[in-house]
Amino acid sequence: MAENTNVPTVSLSAGSETVEMPQLGFGVWQVEDDQAADAVREAIKVGYRSIDTAKVYENEAGTGAAIASADVPRHDIFLTTKVWNEDQGYEATKKAFDASIERLGGKDAVEPLDLYLIHWPTPEKDTYVETFKAMLELRDAGRVRAVGVCNFEPEHLQRLKDETGEFPAINQVELHPKFQQKAVRDFCSANGIAVEAWSPLGQGGDILTNPVLDGIAERLGKTVAQVIIRWHLQIGNVVIPKSVTPSRIAENFDVFDFELTEDDLFAISDLDSSDGRIGPHPNDFN
Ligand SMILES: NC(=O)c1ccc[n+]([C@@H]2O[C@H](COP(=O)([O-])OP(=O)(O)OC[C@H]3O[C@@H](n4cnc5c(N)ncnc54)[C@H](OP(=O)(O)O)[C@@H]3O)[C@@H](O)[C@H]2O)c1
Repeated sequence: MAENTNVPTVSLSAGSETVEMPQLGFGVWQVEDDQAADAVREAIKVGYRSIDTAKVYENEAGTGAAIASADVPRHDIFLTTKVWNEDQGYEATKKAFDASIERLGGKDAVEPLDLYLIHWPTPEKDTYVETFKAMLELRDAGRVRAVGVCNFEPEHLQRLKDETGEFPAINQVELHPKFQQKAVRDFCSANGIAVEAWSPLGQGGDILTNPVLDGIAERLGKTVAQVIIRWHLQIGNVVIPKSVTPSRIAENFDVFDFELTEDDLFAISDLDSSDGRIGPHPNDFN
């Protein structure tokens, strides 16, 4: 088993405490349950110690089984899951949490969960504040170590603070070189909210053949995917690339023996594009 020695962590605020989260983790969206089990096993073998699943991915069971069978204690793995849109609301969230814990392997094996996230704000439903209140209670009861959100715009984050007294610990948003989310990142940074990048490799699309990134990769003797993951790490993002391909799972973790220069970072910041978004706008996804 490879040792997990060199992944930096980011501090998540959790009431009066902080929780350390590995900055590089592993995502399993669009992976069938049994394939997710294989992929998570492979990822843990390579050295990943943070896994991102969700109720709606329908692979919590495979993910939990892989963690349970790993040659690594449960408490060395940072495990994230998410409350799906139809489960939002105070009571429904608590039920959804219980159901996720069951699928992940049961209370004794899994709790405390490391991170529970609201998957989308779904502003038309207007239930994310009640949802967050339930999550804070789960945290204060010791069932989950930190609570956060995904796909929240600054106005949604501010409303949580205004109505519950707390910002979420982390905001997981679409973020890659073609869609850099400067406004969201600035708001989060000013308010102590960690930023986590979903689709960090642009879902394996044409960003992986971008000539600017290719030039940097060539100079460093690395792949474009490794350069992109390194960019996320150097600008402070938590990053959770997904792959079901063992060689890529290893490649995406092999990013700690090189650094991008200031010039590289500057060149990559120039790739940001107003039409770079791949997924839906959070205000339109209800
Ligand atoms: N909160 C949210 O709303 C939300 C939304 C989307 C995603 N997420 C999370 O973020 C994670 C990552 O995002 P994502 O899965 O959308 O996309 P991604 O990680 O940006 O890209 C995954 C795609 O890139 C390919 N790939 C991975 N490594 C590669 C490499 N080294 N070289 C070439 N291709 C490579 C994968 O192919 P293979 O698998 O075939 O190797 C897959 O097709 C998800 O799994 C999920 O956990 C969250």
